[in-house]
Amino acid sequence: MNMCSRLVYIIFIMLLNACATEPTVSYQFDVNPILKDNCLQCHVPPNGVGYLRTGLNMRSYETLMHGTIYGPVIVPGDSRRSILNKLVEGRAGSYMRMPHDKKDPLTEEEIKTLKLWVDQHAKNN
Ligand code: HEC
Repeated sequence: MNMCSRLVYIIFIMLLNACATEPTVSYQFDVNPILKDNCLQCHVPPNGVGYLRTGLNMRSYETLMHGTIYGPVIVPGDSRRSILNKLVEGRAGSYMRMPHDKKDPLTEEEIKTLKLWVDQHAKNN
């Protein structure tokens, strides 16, 4: 390959890589709406049952990241170890699955959004 075609080849590979990366998930536009629709009814003060039992208040990014009275439920960058992801994915068993109370589980798409967001370091974006 001459210099020029090598350059074209490299740029082509870089473009392919750029297109293949996952979209950036936003807390404000992607994550918060999922929590609002599926979790907030039980996870806000003063009398959400999930809040009363664990102290987990999902009203804001700050309170969500604060977690329960026992500690954080999100490990930024590591959805495998995050309790929140474990519970919505049903990895902690069907009894502990969130949302609670025989409510419909999150859709595949919603579960994936929460997972990606945590793996992208759970930013307040
Ligand atoms: C119908 C009420 C209800 C809904 C809706 C609900 N939760 Fe909960 N949540 C609870 C209760 C009650 C607990 C306390 C633990 C228990 O009793 O299982 C809890 C606890 C938790 C905990 C802490 C678990 C621990 O052991 O530290 C997390 C994380 C959690 N919920 C996430 C969520 C998420 C995410 C959603 C939405 C997808 C959600 N919850 C929706 C009731 C609810």
